[in-house]
Amino acid sequence: MCGIAGYIGNLDASSVLLVALERLKYRGYDSAGIATQENGELTIGKSAGRLKELQDIYDEQGSFGNCGIAHTRWATHGTPSTENAHPHCNTDQSIAVVHNGIIENHERLRRQLTDQGAIFQSQTDSEIIPHLLATYYDGDPIKAVQACIKELEGSYAFAAIFADHENRIIVARHGSPLLIGRGPHAMMLASDIPALLPHAHDVCVLEEGQIADIRNDSVEIVDADSNNVDPAFKKIEINFNEVSKGEYDSFMAKEIAEQPEVVQRIIDDRISNGALADIAVEVDLSQIQHVVFLACGTSWHAALLGKRFLEHYARIHVEVDISSEYRYRNPIAAGGTLVVAISQSGETADTLASLRLARSMFMPVVSLVNVVDSSIARESEGALPLLCGPEIGVASTKAYTGQLTALFLFALQMAKAKGRLTAEQEKEAIDSLLPIPELVAGTLKNAEEHVLDAVEVLAPANATVFLGRGGEHATALEGALKLKEIAYVHATGYPAGEFKHGPIALVTNQLPVVCIAPQGAMHDKMLSNLEEVRARQGRIIGVGQSSDRDLKNLSDHLFPVDLAGNELLQPLLSILPLQRYSYHVARRRDCDVDQPRNLAKSVTVE
Ligand code: G6P
Repeated sequence: MCGIAGYIGNLDASSVLLVALERLKYRGYDSAGIATQENGELTIGKSAGRLKELQDIYDEQGSFGNCGIAHTRWATHGTPSTENAHPHCNTDQSIAVVHNGIIENHERLRRQLTDQGAIFQSQTDSEIIPHLLATYYDGDPIKAVQACIKELEGSYAFAAIFADHENRIIVARHGSPLLIGRGPHAMMLASDIPALLPHAHDVCVLEEGQIADIRNDSVEIVDADSNNVDPAFKKIEINFNEVSKGEYDSFMAKEIAEQPEVVQRIIDDRISNGALADIAVEVDLSQIQHVVFLACGTSWHAALLGKRFLEHYARIHVEVDISSEYRYRNPIAAGGTLVVAISQSGETADTLASLRLARSMFMPVVSLVNVVDSSIARESEGALPLLCGPEIGVASTKAYTGQLTALFLFALQMAKAKGRLTAEQEKEAIDSLLPIPELVAGTLKNAEEHVLDAVEVLAPANATVFLGRGGEHATALEGALKLKEIAYVHATGYPAGEFKHGPIALVTNQLPVVCIAPQGAMHDKMLSNLEEVRARQGRIIGVGQSSDRDLKNLSDHLFPVDLAGNELLQPLLSILPLQRYSYHVARRRDCDVDQPRNLAKSVTVE
């Protein structure tokens, strides 16, 4: 969580950094701040609340220099307040630091530093860093950082500026992401690529344990053993349109609308001349007997469907685990097991920790990630890119449909490698996927007016139940998560067969119950569930085909979804009206869909 940025160039640093923070807001947005360096002095500006308030401070006080660091916060230690906002300084304000991560031994270090005379201003763990740097600083910032990080336990990506060093930022990384950007007139640093644009054209990923000395025209990197390392810059591929809202009112709305092209992009990448293209993983899939999916949040819901795809096509045993559970169990490392980590950001702390645990037990790990230079991608034996483009809205939408598409194709790859997919079956499966982009576009279009009608009536409801069976159980979980995340409506997703074992007690004539009941093997069973809800006067939103008379008759509202053809792919369509439903309910309830309270897009702390 939290986003950090830095700039050295010929423009006013605070103006550049305010734009960078805007792009990093998805990582946390409860307070923000900037420190700039000019003429041997540091100037700090910070505020609790939205970025606009920090902008107002700089509009009023003007700017101070061409070199600075910045931070947008998701509170871990200490409330969201101006005092706890970064940057933090040492006692005489000669060193300023922004930090992403958690310093786990901060209490002991704080006591030690306080005894030595340091005066702390905040309740944060991060403030340890500038005070520690000050104790080791003798005019050489690199030496101070090297000594400081030896004492830190936990995770960090931090950037420090020193009052007596013009145009110089020192950064260090352990467990949290940090990128260095280089442009014709600027050097930058940030937690993520969009914040480097448009000033940087090339990017270099700082590796674990490395420290970089960034100046206006150079970068020097040393590794944990103090060896010099050549910075490996490569061209930034993302363009500006991908990180702006364009004609949409929110990133969430834009990202929902992008889903047809996301699915198409994955198809184009993984299918060549009507057959599966080779994938770059250093694992012999033919030897795999057992797959363990590890993921959090929406990615975990995608994994539930990944299990169905793999079991259906490759006929192998699949487990799905929540990363934060797996990492604290004592999992069994059976021979022939492949671990597949699924993550949009590639930085989710629990998924990264589970991946490391799996590797420590000698299990091969392949990852499905959207951010290709992320830690999870780099620590895997093979990373399959999701190709969704940057997802900025906190609630994941296009990454989910992208994950489902990639998982479907991965299941076919596995089945083929294991000799369990004939050429005919391969063709049939691929043919069933090809129309999906168009069906996604059609479903989004056709469902909209029905979604709006339902929102008109149901937006005030304070709870909602989502029911589904088979693959649509994942849709129910994901639909409920969307509504909770962005509209703050208590929602629960349930396997419909379990409904009568408790949750049915919730049904009253005030409760919306979303029943996901497209045509397929579970359709009739779902209709029985609708009957049960109806008998108790629940308010039913049916999700299924518009031609389905039974569903229509039982539902107060019907969200029409096209028929996917291949039932396994139906959840790619069923989720779409539910994304739009949450979006509209949130707007009705005056919620900020891109920055829901208490959340962050990339959960880089436990
Ligand atoms: C956070 C985000 C969710 C996301 C989850 C897992 O909670 O708000 O949208 O699904 O993290 O993130 P990952 O990047 O690992 O997919």
